[in-house]
Amino acid sequence: MCGIVGYIGKKEAYPILINGLKRLEYRGYDSAGIALINGETNIYKSIGRVSELEKHVEGKNIKGSVGMAHTRWATHGVPSDANAHPHQSQGGYFTLIHNGIIENYNPLKTKLQKNGYVFKSETDTEVLVNLIEFFYLKGDLTPEIAIKLALEKVIGAYGLVISCSVTPQTLYAARKGSPLVIGLGNEEYFIASDASPIIEHTKSVIYLENNHLAIIEKNQLTLKSVDNYMLEPKVQELDLDIGQIEKGGYEHFMLKEIFEQPDSILDTFRGRVASDFKSIKLGGLHKVMPQLLAAKKITIIACGTSWHAGLLGEYLIEEYARIPVEVEYGSEFRYRNPIIEKDDVILAISQSGETADTLAAIDIAQRAGATVIGICNVVGSSIPRATVAGVYTHAGPEIGVASTKAFTTQVMVLTMMALEIGRRKATISQEQFEATTRAIVDIPNQIKEILLKNEELKEIAKVYATINDFLYLGRGYNFPVALEGALKLKEISYIHAEGYPAGEMKHGPIALIDEKMPIVVIATKDQFYEKILSNMQEVKARKGKVIAIATKGDLLMNQTADHVFELPETSPALVPILATIPLQLLAYHIAVLRGCDVDQPRNLAKSVTVE
Ligand code: G6P
Repeated sequence: MCGIVGYIGKKEAYPILINGLKRLEYRGYDSAGIALINGETNIYKSIGRVSELEKHVEGKNIKGSVGMAHTRWATHGVPSDANAHPHQSQGGYFTLIHNGIIENYNPLKTKLQKNGYVFKSETDTEVLVNLIEFFYLKGDLTPEIAIKLALEKVIGAYGLVISCSVTPQTLYAARKGSPLVIGLGNEEYFIASDASPIIEHTKSVIYLENNHLAIIEKNQLTLKSVDNYMLEPKVQELDLDIGQIEKGGYEHFMLKEIFEQPDSILDTFRGRVASDFKSIKLGGLHKVMPQLLAAKKITIIACGTSWHAGLLGEYLIEEYARIPVEVEYGSEFRYRNPIIEKDDVILAISQSGETADTLAAIDIAQRAGATVIGICNVVGSSIPRATVAGVYTHAGPEIGVASTKAFTTQVMVLTMMALEIGRRKATISQEQFEATTRAIVDIPNQIKEILLKNEELKEIAKVYATINDFLYLGRGYNFPVALEGALKLKEISYIHAEGYPAGEMKHGPIALIDEKMPIVVIATKDQFYEKILSNMQEVKARKGKVIAIATKGDLLMNQTADHVFELPETSPALVPILATIPLQLLAYHIAVLRGCDVDQPRNLAKSVTVE
């Protein structure tokens, strides 16, 4: 939510900042702005995408080797030029970009108004920049101390880059809640919300921690805590290359990421599933394995697509490891006074590792003394740093706002976890364990087989692209898949879509079915097969249109459904990974046919760093 980027060094800042913004645009895209510091501070802002900002600055003074830029996802105040960042203080001393929310901005604003401040925007950020100036002028303080004082007064979350007109060769970067990474170049520093704008310049980075303030000049970085202690910066090397964050010939990042799934799934289990299939090694869980084996309850916490992976985690862990599992939304768990026992294990799942509600829930669980572990994609992000142990999914950077490969790799990790805990607890037989791990190894090729039939899904998409409501049904492991399929369609095509357990259809959704309504049914050959076939008959009896995701060679399906997409045969526990892929492609093609912006759907953001 909101992308921020800063530069200080020897080069022209403008191209570095604009390219950085393009890499971060997935974090928010309702307006963008830039400040270039070169004797004076020139600020340019524009409603809309980064490309609009580029047009807006044409012919203007964009010189300067110090600067900052921002791409916004609106929280306080509508998308507009005035609400876009950077914001400047009334006296012109401070300029600032912000990712996060200042929760107590209202009382602070009132106080500043009483002191003569007049606000040009509706944002919480303008309150912060004026608060810094207020302290600076009132106390005759250094900019650094004024910033610290202001930060001690604000409640909420922030990732900030700040400049002050009296120290034009210095940038200040501070973090609480919202992520910030600083790249170390040769007499230059790069600041960004994540590593993607930095990677083309340097691989040496410092992840800023909560309540840290970096004071950055072109050849020097000083790290302090907001309460003024000197700190030693921890420099890390990024394991990422530029090709991973570019489209590589695909029309959209989402399509590229769907097609990357044979490799991302392979990267998830490679080196973890033993070559003799007799065990699974999840190194990151080694030190918490005793707690996992003894756990009376596992609570999974996640949001969005990761929550759907969590629901599958519940089905898998209860089935294989026989440990009771609850799946919670981070936003609910954090406020509802949940029961957390000391021997509970809390498992946070997150692609970005930065979701504010999931992080807040982790904090609560930790304070209650539970063992908190994570499943994350982004290496070095906040969740892996906040948890005692965990597993990386290794999906690689996911840029498309709608999550695809992150989901299937999360499910793969959860499957491996459930199997390995089950094996160690002897709640599954070694025979069943080995049969399933053997099936895991076939998954990448089976995904390739599905991807080869992309055109089939495009044809189905053509039939239904103008429809306004969809229903997705599944049972057992395929119920979370139905939820995820519906969410994908909703997110990128703006079609109203609902996922339901097929058995619940008659308790409500059936009322919606008529001859126009398409119903996507995941109807693979498993213990629910007969039952789901009956559900399909019920749909047909009401003249609904059935799109079935079925097991290869199932002739009965062709007689019942209007369209059948066949999946290769695998273990029931692994069907969700395969069944998700045609649903991703169906949503993708429908969205493209409707002319929607697939990678940056309206109102959404990839990394939700605010409540
Ligand atoms: C946003 C994204 C979703 C994602 C969710 C949780 O809503 O648009 O794609 O599933 O956040 O994000 P996380 O990074 O925690 O998995």
